[in-house]
Amino acid sequence: MKHLLSIEDLSREGIERILDRAASFAEVAGREIKKVPALRGRTVVNLFYEASTRTQSSFELAAKRLSADVVSIKSTGSSVEKGESLKDTIQTLSSYDPAAIVIRSPQVGAADLVARWSPAAVINAGDGKHEHPTQALLDVYTLRQAMGDLDGRKIWIVGDVLHSRVARSNILAFRRMGADVTLSGPPTLIPRGIEALGCEVETTLDRLPEADVVYALRMQRERMTQAFVPTLREYAERYQVNAARLGPDQLLMHPGPVNRGVELSADVIDSPQALIGRQVEAGVVVRMAVLYELLAGSAAPVGVTDDALAPAEALR
Ligand code: NCD
Repeated sequence: MKHLLSIEDLSREGIERILDRAASFAEVAGREIKKVPALRGRTVVNLFYEASTRTQSSFELAAKRLSADVVSIKSTGSSVEKGESLKDTIQTLSSYDPAAIVIRSPQVGAADLVARWSPAAVINAGDGKHEHPTQALLDVYTLRQAMGDLDGRKIWIVGDVLHSRVARSNILAFRRMGADVTLSGPPTLIPRGIEALGCEVETTLDRLPEADVVYALRMQRERMTQAFVPTLREYAERYQVNAARLGPDQLLMHPGPVNRGVELSADVIDSPQALIGRQVEAGVVVRMAVLYELLAGSAAPVGVTDDALAPAEALR
């Protein structure tokens, strides 16, 4: 695999391979010195044209823990603000001969374009409302750690599906791993024809108790060009996941950032059922595994005995 642009690029075996590799990196994350020499001398460029806390910091940490040289560029404070086009920016950054470019953009298809313009391996860190494949991988990783295989598990994705790249990538990944996926939210926030991805649609939370996992989405007001719900208060009344609606055995996920009091109530965010902190933690090891897969070659064996996983010191 040269790039990671969409979950469609991955078979179930491909996903499992990356997650197994991530699990071996989790051992490295537990060490005092959390660095391995796998990508020593390679350059990773992180190009973020949209706000990001978790994705940006975890890609940066992931590349650094693999000993790569990392350049992180945000649209604010770079020449993008001066009107430099994406193509010119890529051409400029290509002078550093990067092994990988990680890109987040508000434009659907931006990562695909970069993959055409640059010889580097390209990772889609979110393109508009299209896809966010590494989020889906870290979510599957988190769930596998919490409940084992996803075969036959019922996962409900609740909220603003229409504007969510996370929903698209996660539907594809959860289905590929054998889970049953149900989407629920106001009809105005569920894209028409989305059932074609192999999921069911519900417009109420009446059947939410059937879910093993409840995956709440943020109301993405920055992408809303019209009023999709009457008010956030009315939205919360019908669709907020709160202690009254979440059963004691159901797991709760959210990609972050959370609008407290809108899609989730404070009590469930801080409950032991919430995997939200574990999702963030998984972000680093899963992104290490993706970088490793693309740059160190998929022929490399999975496991901690791998030379590239020896502590950085040992190989000096
Ligand atoms: C998501 C995103 O940017 O698509 N956040 C993330 O990467 N953790 C979801 C969101 O912004 O709601």
